[in-house]
Amino acid sequence: MLELLRSKITAITTSAKETDAKLQEICDLLKESVAHYDWVGFYFRNGTKEELKLGPYAGAPTDHTIIPFGKGICGQVAVSNKNFVVPDVQAQDNYIACSITVKSEIVVPLFVKGKNIGQIDIDSNTPDPFTEKDERFLEFVNEEVAKFIEA
Ligand code: SME
Repeated sequence: MLELLRSKITAITTSAKETDAKLQEICDLLKESVAHYDWVGFYFRNGTKEELKLGPYAGAPTDHTIIPFGKGICGQVAVSNKNFVVPDVQAQDNYIACSITVKSEIVVPLFVKGKNIGQIDIDSNTPDPFTEKDERFLEFVNEEVAKFIEA
């Protein structure tokens, strides 16, 4: 399933559209195609500030359009530079709830020229659904995204 999606991702990332249009298409594709992806969005560093700003996303609108570095799962990934898989969001102290239906979350950092410039964030209404396959797939998505952000 995730393997089949890779070619669709590459078709989007190599198209002639604007950056945000490509990111939006990726969010829509992932949310529609993967049953346990209920909210899919990109956060990016907000200029030189120590905070993340919400970019394109698919799913319910969130109040958390700005997240300070260190806060929540997203803010922690901004400083750790590492994937963060949360099987049960209620077990996390440093967590920012976006919706009461969310049970789990995965955040994978996005590197451009070795710098952590943002992340892909996925919320799931299913408990503990994320495996290493999701991590490898989302790393691939971010590598593809990095190519057109770099260009
Ligand atoms: N849950 C995230 C906040 C972003 S929402 O999931 C869209 C966090 O703890 O950082």
